[in-house]
Amino acid sequence: MITRDEVHRILKEYDPNSLAIGTLGSHSSLNIFKGAKEEGFKTVSICKKDDAIIYKKFPVADEILIVEDFSELLNESLQRKLRKLNTVLVPHGSFTAYLSTEQMTNSLYVPMFGNRELLHWEAGRERQREWLLKAGLRLPKTFDRPEEIKGLVIAKLPGAKGGRGYFLADSSESFHKKTNEMVRRGLLNKRDVSNIHLQEYILGVNVYPHYFSSIVRDEVEFLGVDRRYESAVDAIGRIPADVQLDMEISPTYTIVGNIPITLRESLLPELIRMGDAVMKTAKELAAPGIIGPFCLETIITDNLEIYAFEISARIVAGTNVGIGTSPYAYLKYGENMYAGKRIALEIREAHEQDRLTEIFM
Ligand SMILES: Nc1ncnc2c1ncn2[C@@H]1O[C@H](COP(=O)(O)OP(=O)(O)O)[C@@H](O)[C@H]1O
Ligand SMILES: [Mg+2]
Repeated sequence: MITRDEVHRILKEYDPNSLAIGTLGSHSSLNIFKGAKEEGFKTVSICKKDDAIIYKKFPVADEILIVEDFSELLNESLQRKLRKLNTVLVPHGSFTAYLSTEQMTNSLYVPMFGNRELLHWEAGRERQREWLLKAGLRLPKTFDRPEEIKGLVIAKLPGAKGGRGYFLADSSESFHKKTNEMVRRGLLNKRDVSNIHLQEYILGVNVYPHYFSSIVRDEVEFLGVDRRYESAVDAIGRIPADVQLDMEISPTYTIVGNIPITLRESLLPELIRMGDAVMKTAKELAAPGIIGPFCLETIITDNLEIYAFEISARIVAGTNVGIGTSPYAYLKYGENMYAGKRIALEIREAHEQDRLTEIFM
C-alpha cells in the first residue's frame, strides 16, 4: 500500500502553481477537464487512440497520452510522464473497472484526488453494505442461500460490470433453473454460482443523487440527481406482455446514458441526511472520509421509501447531466457549477490555503 507520506513526497516535488488535472479518457473526462480548465488548470488525458477524437470535437484536453489499454496507467514510464507534467489524477468509474483496488492502492505513484483507504470499503458488496447500514440507510434485504429466497430477488453476479448477466428469481427453483441454464450456455462459471449475491428486488424508480464532500469547506453539498438509461431493461416495457412471454427475455442493465431528474421537494431532506450520514461514517471508517464527489444508488418506492443499494465514492457518469449546471448546483452556486468544476474549485481552494495534502492521497 502506498502511504500518504509517499504521495505527499511526490506532491512536494510538484510546482503547485502549475498543477495539471489528469484522468483516463472516458466516463466523465469531458466533465472533469472542462471544469479543470474553467478553474485555470492544465489537463492531461490518458486515452486510447480511437477515442482521442472526442478531444478534437471538444477541445478540453491539453495533453493527450495515447495508451493501448488503460492498465498502462500502472507502467512506471507513464507514471513518470504524468509526474513530470505535475499531474494529479481524478479517478472515475473506468479506474475501478480497469484496475483492481490493489493496483490502485499499491502501484499508482501519482497523487490522486480522493481517499485511497476508502477504496477498500467500496470494493466489496459486503463491506459497502456494512458502511451503508452503519450510516443508518435503508437497504434491500439479502439472502444468504437460494433456499431462503422469499419474494422477488435480483441475483447479482460476482464482479459483474454494469449489471450484465444479472437476473431475477422468485424461488430457489427458478434460481437454480436460471443458473443451470447460464452455466450450460457458458455465461456463468459453476463455482461462481455460490458467490451470487441475492438481494430483495425493490419495486420503484431509480434515483441517483450526487453529492460533493468538501474537505476544504467541511461540508457535504447536494449537486444533482440523475437516473440511468439502461439497455435492455428500459426497452422491455415497449413490448406487449404477451409477446414478452414468448421471447424469454431477461432484463440486462447495460448503461447507455443518463437522464437528469428534479425530485419532489419533500424527498430532499432525507436524501440530504443520507449524504451527511454516509460521509460521517466514512470519516470513522477511514479518515478524513470521502474527498470530493460521491453518489448513492437508490430506488424509491411508491410509499416514498428510499432504498440505497450501492455507493460510489468518486465522480459518477451521471453527473455529466449537470455539465454547465443542474437545478441543485444552481440553487447553491448560481450559474455554471458541476462536478468537474467543483473538483477543480476544491483543488484551487486547497492550494490557496496550503492544504493540498488533505485532498491528495
Ligand atoms: N435491489 C434491487 N432492486 C431492484 N433493482 C435493482 C436492485 N439492485 C440493483 N437493481 C438494478 O440493477 C441495476 C444494476 O445494479 P447494480 O447493483 O448497480 O450493478 P453494478 O454492480 O453493475 O453497479 C441498477 O440499475 C438497478 O436499477
Ligand atoms: Mg451500480
